[in-house]
Amino acid sequence: MNRNNIPETEVLIIGTGPAGAASAALLSGYGVNNIVINKWSWTARTPRAHITNQRTMEILRDLGLEEEAKNLATPNDLMGENPFCTSLAGQELGRVNTWGTHPLRRADYELASPSMICDLPQNLLEPLLLRSAGPRRSSIRFNTEYLNHVQDQNGVTVTLLDRLNGQTYDVRAKYLIGADGANSKVVEDLGLPLEGKMGISGSMNIVFEADLSEYVAHRPSVLYWIVQPGSNVGGLGIAVIRMVRPWYKWLVVYGYEVEDGPPELTEETATHIVHSLIGNRNIPVKIESTSTWTVNDVHAKQLSRGRVFCMGDAVHRHPPLNGLGSNASIQDAFNLCWKLAHVLDGKAHPDMLESYNEERAPVAAQVVKRANKSLDDLPPIYAALGFFDEQDPGEIQKNIAELCESTPAAAERRQALRDALDNTHYVYNAHGVEMNQRYDSRAVATDGTAEPHYLRDAELYHQASSRPGANLPHAWLTENGHRVSTLDLCGRGKFTLLTGLGGEAWLDAARTVEKELGLEIRTHVIGFGRQYEDPYGDFARLSEISETGALVIRPDLFVGWRAQAVSDNATADLRAAMSRILGRENGDPLTDLHTRNRKADSIKDHWMSQT
Ligand code: FDA
Repeated sequence: MNRNNIPETEVLIIGTGPAGAASAALLSGYGVNNIVINKWSWTARTPRAHITNQRTMEILRDLGLEEEAKNLATPNDLMGENPFCTSLAGQELGRVNTWGTHPLRRADYELASPSMICDLPQNLLEPLLLRSAGPRRSSIRFNTEYLNHVQDQNGVTVTLLDRLNGQTYDVRAKYLIGADGANSKVVEDLGLPLEGKMGISGSMNIVFEADLSEYVAHRPSVLYWIVQPGSNVGGLGIAVIRMVRPWYKWLVVYGYEVEDGPPELTEETATHIVHSLIGNRNIPVKIESTSTWTVNDVHAKQLSRGRVFCMGDAVHRHPPLNGLGSNASIQDAFNLCWKLAHVLDGKAHPDMLESYNEERAPVAAQVVKRANKSLDDLPPIYAALGFFDEQDPGEIQKNIAELCESTPAAAERRQALRDALDNTHYVYNAHGVEMNQRYDSRAVATDGTAEPHYLRDAELYHQASSRPGANLPHAWLTENGHRVSTLDLCGRGKFTLLTGLGGEAWLDAARTVEKELGLEIRTHVIGFGRQYEDPYGDFARLSEISETGALVIRPDLFVGWRAQAVSDNATADLRAAMSRILGRENGDPLTDLHTRNRKADSIKDHWMSQT
C-alpha cells in the first residue's frame, strides 16, 4: 500500500493465459513482486492449445517445471501418425508423420534441444505455471477485471473491477503487462497499431468424451483430419478430431460460415457432428462443452508503450495451425521478464526494455504469417479429391472410391493427393519456424559477423548458430559422466559466460565486470578435467568459437555476445558487450532506474542454489 492506500506492486499482469501465467512464474522466480489477474473465476476450462514445442519446453525446464509438464502431457511418440480419413471408421486417405516423429526428422528434433515437443493441454499448463508463481512472488486474483490504466513517469495506475462485489479499485504498478488475449482491452487502450483482419472465418470447438481406442490406438496421433462433405466449411477448412487425453477425451474443431454468425450449438447438433466424424453413430458420446471462435490474421507492429507491455494473443492473433500461439506467448514472456527484473533491480537501463519490441514484434509478424499461410496448405487435399469441383456427396464418394482403382486417372488423383499431403509438412513439421528465431536489437552485442546462410529450408529445419541474437545451441556435455545440456548451465535469471581451456582470462574479466555493473555473471569453463566436459565434441563444433573464446548467454538463453578467442582486452571487451546488452553504454549513474533495495530473498536463493 502507498500513502493513498492504493495497493502497490512491481508488475501487474492482466490475464492468466499462457502469456500471463508464464510471466507470473518467471517474474516470481526472478524475485519480482507481481499481481496477476483474470476476470473469470478460474484458468482456461477447455483444452485449446496443446502442441508444446521444444523452445517452450526449454522455458519450462528453466523454470524447473519440465518433469511435471511431461507427466501431465502426452509424449511425443503418441503424437505423430496424423491420419487423413473420411471418418475415423472410414477410408484412410494417407498419413503424415508430424511433430518430428518421422525417423528422418526425429534426429533434427533430438539434436536441437534437450527437451522434446509434447502435447500439453492448455487447461493443465496454466495451473502448472500458476502453481509455480503463487508460492513465490505472485498474488493471484480471479474474478478481477482490468478496466483501464493511466501511466506516468514513475508507474502505472490501473483500475480493476472486483466482479464478486462490483467494486472498482486502483492498483499502482511500476510496469503493466497486457496478456489479455485476442480481444485485448489493454492493446486497445494503449492504441497499439494492429495490422491485418479479425474474423476471417469461423470455427467451433466441441469437447467430448468417448472411448475411441478401436479407431485410434493403432495409429496414435494428436490430430485426426476428417475429409467428408460439409467438413470443409469455414474455420480451418477441414474437420479435426483432436486427442485431449488418449484415447477417451477429444476436441472436435469444425467450421461455420462466418458471415452467418456463430451457430446455436445444441447438444444434439454437437453429437450429430461428432458421430459423423467418427463414422459410427453407436459410439456413446458425452458432450462436455461447445464454443465458437474466429480465425484471425492480426499482429501488432509495436508491442509496448512506455511502461505497458503487451504479449501473447493480444499482439499476435492467428489460426491454431502450426500450434504456435501459446508457444509464442510463453516465449514473449521469457523475453520480457528477465529484462523487467534487471531494470527493476537497477542492473539495466529502462531504455533496454525497448528491445522487447525490437525482438518480439518481428516474431509476432512471422508466426501470424506462417499460421495463416498454413490455411492455404489444406485446401489442395480437397482439390485432389475433387471437392471444390463437385460438391455432390455421391460424386465425392466416387472420387474417393477411385483412389483404389488401377487406372491412369486414379494414379493421377493419388499423386495429387500425396503431393497435397506432403505439402503439409509446413503445417506440422515447421521446426525452423519454432526454433530459428534470431534477434537483432539493442540488447544484443553484435560480433560483426554476417547472419549465416540457411543450408536447408529455414521454415522446416532448425539451424543452430552461436551468432549473437540466436539461441544458445544445445549440446550434451557431461558432469561426473552424467549428461547435461549446455542450456542447463545457463538461464534461471542470470547471465552466463561459457569458455574453454585457455579462456580463463574471461573468468577474471567476468569478476571485474560483474563488480562494476553490480550483477552476477555465472562462468563455466568447458573442457577436459573441468566440471563440465565435452566428450562428444559437440560443444566445440556448435559453439563456433575457439577453445579460448567466450559466449555470453542472456538469461533467456539467447547468445548476447561472443568472442572468437581470448584477447589482451578481455575485460574491456566483456565490459563493452555487457554494457551494450544492459543499455548502459553511456555509463552510470542510471538516473531513471527504479532500484528496489531488494532484500535477500529465500525464493531467489532457492533458485540460485540449483545452479
Ligand atoms: P489467452 O486468451 O489464453 O488468455 C487471456 C487471459 O486474459 C485469460 O486469462 C482471460 O480471462 C484474461 N482476460 C481477458 N480480458 C481480461 C480483462 N479485461 N481483465 C482481466 N482478465 C482478462 N497454441 C499453441 O501454441 N499450440 C496449440 O496447439 C494451439 N492449439 C489451439 C487450438 C485451438 C482450438 C485454439 C482455439 C487455440 C490454440 N492455440 C494453440 C492458441 C492458444 O490457445 C493461444 O495462442 C493462447 O491461449 C494465447 O495465450 P494468451 O495468454 O496470450 O491469451
